[in-house]
Amino acid sequence: MSETEVEIPPEAKKIKMSSIPEAPDSEWPEAWFMAEDECEDQKKENRQDPNKPATVADLKSLGISYWKMDADSYEYPVKAVPWDPKDAVDPQLKALRDDRGYSYADIISIRPDLLPGYDDKVKSFFEEHIHDAEEIRYILDGSGYFDVRDKEDKWVRIWIKKGDLMTLPEGIYHRFTCDEDDYIKAMRLFIGQPVWTPFNRPMEDHPSRKKYVASYIEEKKED
Ligand SMILES: [Fe+2]
Repeated sequence: MSETEVEIPPEAKKIKMSSIPEAPDSEWPEAWFMAEDECEDQKKENRQDPNKPATVADLKSLGISYWKMDADSYEYPVKAVPWDPKDAVDPQLKALRDDRGYSYADIISIRPDLLPGYDDKVKSFFEEHIHDAEEIRYILDGSGYFDVRDKEDKWVRIWIKKGDLMTLPEGIYHRFTCDEDDYIKAMRLFIGQPVWTPFNRPMEDHPSRKKYVASYIEEKKED
């Protein structure tokens, strides 16, 4: 390092600073470690017995961020690809989009009568994968499960519901499924032109995976 360079502490490198404060811990979605055996029915809760909760600190240590939104006071279409707000818009959503550079948004609804090929699509969302960008979802209605791998490669199930805006970091292994209510309506946000490509596991040599491992997993081994 040259003398003119300023050393950036490792913490500052991995945390994307945001001026919009995240929700207090008490408002985060419920999360738990899943039962060890591969779940027979992906839409069921698949908890351990007794239940083993995952804490907000657990989720934050994996790079997940969360904001609680007001999804009741604003109207959103069933589908809009892309979604371009022309009228009054939730000021908190606007502030988050501006602050974090989420220039693209669309709205999709996943429900048997609204999405052709529902069963096959829900199965495909459940393939374990990574992306080469952050995954950002604002749940406008309904609910579902995001499963993420923790540092020991265990599945953590996050029950995301109306009003939840959650981000998963680039390179984290994850999957999604509807729950037994079979309905979720979500806004997908993206920085720049959206690329939704899933890279199915194994993807250990993918640069995004390497970046994630270096930022969130190897760091833990040094503890
Ligand atoms: Fe994904």
